[in-house]
Amino acid sequence: MGLSLITVESIERDLARVRKETLDLIGMIPEDFLFNPPKPFMGPIIWDLTHIGKFEELWILHNSSGNKMDEFYRNDDYNAIITPRKNRISLDLPSIPDSLEYLNSIRDRVIDYLHKVDLRSTDELLRNGYVFDLAIQHECQHQETILQSLALYHSPPFISPEHQSGNGTIFEAGMVKVPSGKFQLGSSSGGFSYDNEHNSSELFLGEFLIDCYPVTNHDFMQFIEDDGYMNKEFWSKEGWTWKSEEDADAPLYWEKIDGEWNRRSYHKSLPVSHSEPVIHVSYWEVEAYAKYKGKRLPTEFEWEKACRWNPETEETLSYPWGEEEPNQKNANIGIKRWSPAPVGSYKDAVSPVGCHQMIGDVYEWTSSDFLPYDEFKAFPYEEYSKVNFGTEYKVLRGSSWATSSLVARSTFRNWDFPRRRQIFAGFRCAMDAEED
Ligand code: AVJ
Ligand code: FE
Repeated sequence: MGLSLITVESIERDLARVRKETLDLIGMIPEDFLFNPPKPFMGPIIWDLTHIGKFEELWILHNSSGNKMDEFYRNDDYNAIITPRKNRISLDLPSIPDSLEYLNSIRDRVIDYLHKVDLRSTDELLRNGYVFDLAIQHECQHQETILQSLALYHSPPFISPEHQSGNGTIFEAGMVKVPSGKFQLGSSSGGFSYDNEHNSSELFLGEFLIDCYPVTNHDFMQFIEDDGYMNKEFWSKEGWTWKSEEDADAPLYWEKIDGEWNRRSYHKSLPVSHSEPVIHVSYWEVEAYAKYKGKRLPTEFEWEKACRWNPETEETLSYPWGEEEPNQKNANIGIKRWSPAPVGSYKDAVSPVGCHQMIGDVYEWTSSDFLPYDEFKAFPYEEYSKVNFGTEYKVLRGSSWATSSLVARSTFRNWDFPRRRQIFAGFRCAMDAEED
């Protein structure tokens, strides 16, 4: 979120970097997988790839030069709303070379256009290169979707790069107190942010407690061993219905081998690491865990305050650790580790109140429904946020090991259905402060 100057060169560099990451990822995937989704609720990866190009064509080449979205995109196969995931397999999908050629041809035109436009324009789409960042952020988010698909392939599995399960220290799951006071919620200036993050005012929250670390596999195993999945009193009515229908008795991908919990991670079956944040849990499971602990989930506002507010200086930081951009030293991001890192791995990147790993590792479920902030104005299109507001979705905060450093930020609001487990989601708990 640094206020670093946006230039043609910086945009070109980010565009190229993200595209290389996408092509590297696609290059690892056998052709068969690209056309055959692992589950009906995921689309074929070749669709995501082509859609990345389509989004860039729509927003940069078409809309920002003054055309209307309607004419170009209304009935398009690569419009996510017109063609939901389950329908994508029935499309006449392009071959890999055709899809790549399309992406390249759009990119060449995008670079030409970038060299012609005025980044200091008063046009909001062009100003500070907004529309280019929009395409970059979008591509990064689809990289995460592709990785979710890859994790779901089972027999045969997707052969991932070598990765290990971490052996860290098992920490006592301590909590910190976040004092009452106002903090700056959301983003009002600085680098790129989505319409749903915009907010210029401060928000007052009373005192609360929040976990220092994301809930670990060790913690979660205790819940399983204490019959947490069998004990109806921990579960909401909807949660219990989900659990019964899903027949869930552990996080997604967990399997017991010779009496020990293992976690399938792509082609590997790793012993469940006690010190890593739990991942691939639904909202219903984490809600039940919180109840079992006598805690609750934080609201997304509490989460953000714990992430970036410094009660001593009364300042709101860009990131938990300050203003430095996310990198490999302060967070597990950017598809490097292919797994969450043990808690305590980033001791120098703690938030002022004492929360670890709020950026990277796992997205964190919050108790908040995905709703607009007071000042919300859809920009540049309603289909990103506006059509999704309501009580259907829960907000997830933070970012995961698979999130690009360009997307990982304290104000980013992710959202998904409470039943979803293929996303890279974990959680931490909160609690009301005791009244004196
Ligand atoms: C913000 C992750 C919920 O995948 O539906 C991708 C991101 N929006 N293309 C999604 C998105 C348009 C979005 N999430
Ligand atoms: Fe998309």
